[in-house]
Amino acid sequence: MEQNKQVFISHKQVPRGLTLLGRNQQQSASELQAGARAELTPSPLNQALSSMRGRLVYQTARFLINHEGFTNYVALRIPLAKQIIQGAIPHQNKHPVIVELGVGFSPLSVLLAEELPNATVIELDTEEIIKKRQKRLRNANLPQNLESVAADLSQVSLLEALGGRKPDVIEFTGAYYVHDELIEVLNYFHSVLNDEGSLAMYIPWQPGVDAIRATARFFKRQIGDYPGIVRNVEEIHTLMSRTNFQSHTVIFPSQYAPHLKPLDVEVMVLAKR
Ligand SMILES: C[S@@+](CC[C@H](N)C(=O)[O-])C[C@H]1O[C@@H](n2cnc3c(N)ncnc32)[C@H](O)[C@@H]1O
Repeated sequence: MEQNKQVFISHKQVPRGLTLLGRNQQQSASELQAGARAELTPSPLNQALSSMRGRLVYQTARFLINHEGFTNYVALRIPLAKQIIQGAIPHQNKHPVIVELGVGFSPLSVLLAEELPNATVIELDTEEIIKKRQKRLRNANLPQNLESVAADLSQVSLLEALGGRKPDVIEFTGAYYVHDELIEVLNYFHSVLNDEGSLAMYIPWQPGVDAIRATARFFKRQIGDYPGIVRNVEEIHTLMSRTNFQSHTVIFPSQYAPHLKPLDVEVMVLAKR
């Protein structure tokens, strides 16, 4: 197997605002999503990235939730993100830098690196997760343009973790911050991105989460309790208008693949610097 490049960043003090990054982002969510992908879209990559525990948790969740639209959303989540990120790179930019922040056990970084051989794709997570991820992918033939960075973003700045490279696209999940905090985090990404850069952010969508909750057999109250959840498009516009991003688009999985009828459990916000 080809080992992709690894960078481990040691802990250092950083300015206060940056300590917000990744504060409560959950690893268990990443295991569950990887388990779901392995069950629903069992490619060798998705299977390698998943754990037995993640697959079992997903099987239980599927029994409890049993909503076809939810299943279709899980299957679509990564292909949709990939398409949106590819579309966000300006044509004239022949060597873009793409960062998947809090990569967990997602296949997105690998798929993007395979499809965009001239890009540098950087997957970033804590040292613990990056090590687990690399163990799971030890037999995979990973592309040369994929770089793994282990860094705790509550301890080091993103720019430092990226070795001073300004990304053209940052992919990130906005679920884990209340909006005032999220604005601070988004403005930080804005300051790190390249001039023409974009942010691709999944954020939980209240109507979709409510639909799951309505069909769930048990644990209704525990489902989808995300600080960053948005209730309507207006709320997204208000949130984004409080950031330094110039413009943004909201993309619904149900619009992307209407024939599959995915439930909009999250929406993607694509923001232009
Ligand atoms: C919800 S999970 C990622 C899900 C993944 N992007 C996917 O689509 O499957 C959030 C990730 O953020 C990472 N994370 C949390 N705090 C972090 C920090 N301070 N620095 C770097 N990564 C962090 C966690 O380890 C976790 O893997």
